[in-house]
Amino acid sequence: MSELKLVQHVVVPGTFDPITYGHLDVIARARRLFPQVTVAVAASVGKNGTGPVFSLDERVQMIRDTLAESQIVEGVEVLPFTGLLMDFCQEIGAGGVVKGLRAMTDFEYELQQADLNYRLRPGIESIFVMGSPEFGYVSSSIVRELAYLGSDVSFLVPSVVERRLHERFGEPRK
Ligand code: PNS
Repeated sequence: MSELKLVQHVVVPGTFDPITYGHLDVIARARRLFPQVTVAVAASVGKNGTGPVFSLDERVQMIRDTLAESQIVEGVEVLPFTGLLMDFCQEIGAGGVVKGLRAMTDFEYELQQADLNYRLRPGIESIFVMGSPEFGYVSSSIVRELAYLGSDVSFLVPSVVERRLHERFGEPRK
């Protein structure tokens, strides 16, 4: 076996359009396990110009504000990235990627990504944490849909994100 090099620095990647309590849970868990965590925000712009509701800068800023508000700051940074996740990990010297699993439906998609990432950079570990059960149904797309339809989303997202959603989609119905 080649020289054992412990993983110290991991990446928590995603589109974060926007960050939810589910994401925050995964970031906090990753930080409990590893001393250095980089939250990597993917540009995720589609070929025909379609893409996230919030700009890359807005998504990065909402995560930074959320982490500051939640006092998850030490050992955690937030960076945008474009291109391949594995290239980004290599560039910043991260030894692993941490992702959350909610249900079997996540598993199939994540297994495919992990296999592909292994083929690209076998030295970078894919690590999975089981999301807390109370956030099992939370996703950015559900949050966007509820906010768009005028529902309260305060039970799904941190207050900084809630404010930005209301600025974008209007105040929720009473
Ligand atoms: O929050 P998401 O949208 O599920 O995150 C997906 C993300 C951004 C982690 C994934 O699409 C990704 O790694 N994108 C970067 C491009 C890349 O490396 N693609 C090949 C890996 S499957």
